[in-house]
Amino acid sequence: MRAVVLVGGFGTRLRPLTLSVPKQMLPVGQVTMLEQVVARLGRAGVTEVVLSLGYRPDVFLEAFPDGRCAGVPLVYAEEPEPLDTAGAIAFAARFAGIDDTFLALNGDVITDLDLAELWQTHLRHGGEATIALTPVEDPSRYGVVPTDDDGRVLDFVEKPDPGTAPSNWINAGTYVLEPSVLDRIPEGQRLSIERVVFPALVADGTIYAMKSDAYWLDAGTISTYLSANLDLLEGAAHNGSSHSGPKLLAVADDAVIDLAATVSASVVGAGVRIGADSRVSSSVIIAGAVIGSNVTIEGSVIGGRAIVESGAVITNSSVVGFDQIVGAGDQLDGMFVPAREEWS
Ligand code: GDD
Ligand code: MG
Repeated sequence: MRAVVLVGGFGTRLRPLTLSVPKQMLPVGQVTMLEQVVARLGRAGVTEVVLSLGYRPDVFLEAFPDGRCAGVPLVYAEEPEPLDTAGAIAFAARFAGIDDTFLALNGDVITDLDLAELWQTHLRHGGEATIALTPVEDPSRYGVVPTDDDGRVLDFVEKPDPGTAPSNWINAGTYVLEPSVLDRIPEGQRLSIERVVFPALVADGTIYAMKSDAYWLDAGTISTYLSANLDLLEGAAHNGSSHSGPKLLAVADDAVIDLAATVSASVVGAGVRIGADSRVSSSVIIAGAVIGSNVTIEGSVIGGRAIVESGAVITNSSVVGFDQIVGAGDQLDGMFVPAREEWS
């Protein structure tokens, strides 16, 4: 089994973290989002992962210098320009010489979805594509997928206006595809699988879906990125199921936390230092960040190697980018560092 994993987006909803680090290279627990995804593929028997690279390919190449991630061999398919989801999958599949049934995945999804079951469902129906579906409360930021009783996909509506979605079952970003799908995607052209290719397959009646209520989360926004980290700590539930994957190590072995500091329900990365009388709760502190004394961090993300000086108060989904400095006594309530005006 081979898998194409899409990791080439700009991650705009995760700025300022993604100004320097691609979304899938941000940590979930003590490993990157990509390692979470690839480890799951490896456990399901995938023998090669083709990375569909676009934004900052260098960061991936540097992180996996021996061409393996979580023990699975990688192929790096670097697209010459952003090709959108279908263009990117086709570019990567052609680059790797894929000519048999394969998996394709969005690289920002943390899930326990049963890939073997998805594969079996695909073979049983004999369609050109089979997509996994997950139930969500607000489908408007996803691809919405109504099906008939046999699992045939009746429609594919990407990001419908709020309140207009025909179903609460959405595209979970995990597909089994036949190589014939690639023939529908012209070479070198920007094309969306959600907006163009899937609707075409619906019209031809050759696309099926498998519903799953396994744990599922798209970690592509600040709030879901925080949840992806914190859920795994608690084994918390999403879509009615709790996460059954390997439990996270909350605090890295080599983090240095002052005995007079309090850290609760948080992920603390390698080499992080936290000073006396500081309080960190429901937050993610990425590797190498240095937190001074008497700092409060609540429900927020601190980027790698950032420096937070003494007495700062960072709350309410604030995000401090990589290598940024928060001055002594600064108060951030739902704020970004650098501020949005400084992103370019
Ligand atoms: N190589 C490459 N090139 N990758 C890309 C490109 C591109 O031009 N554009 C996006 N990607 C990657 C992203 O990095 C991400 O891993 C994946 O494709 C999906 O893009 P997102 O930007 O995260 O899409 P989304 O979350 O708004 O919506 C998608 O995912 C939902 C489920 O998580 C859609 O597939 C929805 O239908 C789906 O419900
Ligand atoms: Mg996404």
